[in-house]
Amino acid sequence: MPKPNTLCIGLAGLGTVGGGLIRLLSANADIIERRTGRKITVKRVLVHNLAKKRDCPASLELTDDYTKLTDDPDIDALVEVIGGKDTAKKLIERGLDHGKHIVTANKALLAEEGLPLFQKAKEQDRILRYEASVAGAIPIVQALKESLAANHITSLVGILNGTSNYILSQMTANNLDFATALTDATKMGYAEADPSLDIDGFDCAHKLILLLRLSFGLHYDYQKLPIQGIRNIAALDIALANQLGYHIKLLGQARNTMEVDANGNPLVEAGVFPALVPHSFLLARVDGSFNAIHIKADAAGSLFFHGRGAGDLPTASAVLADLLAVARCEYPNNTGFAQDLPKASLVSADQWKARYYVRVMVADAPGVLRDIAGAMAEQGISMSQVVQHEAQKNGEVPLVLMTHATSQLAMDQAIATIKTSIHPSEIVHFKVLE
Ligand code: HSE
Repeated sequence: MPKPNTLCIGLAGLGTVGGGLIRLLSANADIIERRTGRKITVKRVLVHNLAKKRDCPASLELTDDYTKLTDDPDIDALVEVIGGKDTAKKLIERGLDHGKHIVTANKALLAEEGLPLFQKAKEQDRILRYEASVAGAIPIVQALKESLAANHITSLVGILNGTSNYILSQMTANNLDFATALTDATKMGYAEADPSLDIDGFDCAHKLILLLRLSFGLHYDYQKLPIQGIRNIAALDIALANQLGYHIKLLGQARNTMEVDANGNPLVEAGVFPALVPHSFLLARVDGSFNAIHIKADAAGSLFFHGRGAGDLPTASAVLADLLAVARCEYPNNTGFAQDLPKASLVSADQWKARYYVRVMVADAPGVLRDIAGAMAEQGISMSQVVQHEAQKNGEVPLVLMTHATSQLAMDQAIATIKTSIHPSEIVHFKVLE
């Protein structure tokens, strides 16, 4: 039987975050009780593999059957930190059906199927909280829903994936190659079980969908979001960008145009992509597993949130804060908006303007620069800087162009023309953050 004045939880997942939560519950038991007047105890833990040796208290009862959490009448709340969508969704839905409150860090599930889960929690009169799903320890969900609720948020740009940021930082500062940096990030517990989610931009995209909802009160379909990861970023581009005064970062960016499309749907610019960030911007100085989010709001102005975006205790900090709110019976409005969220439309590529960095590997020969400049001029693209280094690689040199603002469509067409006219062995381009 649970003791009175104790919040009894079932914990799903004993990996980096689950293990961190167990440690934090014990280390900070005093503050939990002072803040809530209650104790929080773990009754049972769902794990994938019961045979695996684990560094956890022997008294913890483990199970590999999620219904032992959802159906146990002693359990008041479920903490879901297993990630993935299948078991997590079943656990949350069945848990709600059995009257459990829910705390989850599952950005993939919430980005793709969050709205029906919020609805179900509301219908069942249960609490569902998800602070840990975006940017680890940074309290951005609460900030957008409550602290900044009086504002129209006009734009946001963030470093939302600790693993990618760790990899890019290591490649920039220590000349580590991509594979070594990824192995280190995995060892430190930053990466997802499937690191493709991190390095191919999907994790960042899930978080961006949640931020877009919380900031603009709009829903956008994750499947349609433009997503580009960091797998193909070359050490050469990191070095060249650095020489020009930029760091390459994986960004999630969204801007509310405050306009509507022909069907009356609100128009936003949104996407996940690596971009050059000027050294002078705070975002350029966000290194390692840290995350950061720059928000522009009409009344509050410009705000910058910075903190650990991944790892055991930083993420457990956000999970436990949600559990404290459950212990205090604080029922949230999960989107932060009173009405159902309208669907957003994305500004098409030909309208989204940005400056670009373009690197072309070219033969150091007469007419090459003329042809490249001609292809850019044909599309109305103006260049702000051109750099060609003398050092040769297989008879070629890197030619770097920095452009003034242009559309993605114009840039794609210029690149297609360059490919057919001078057949470079390689051409890459990245947006430049302004
Ligand atoms: N794999 C994620 C990251 C963990 O690297 O940011 C936090 O969501």
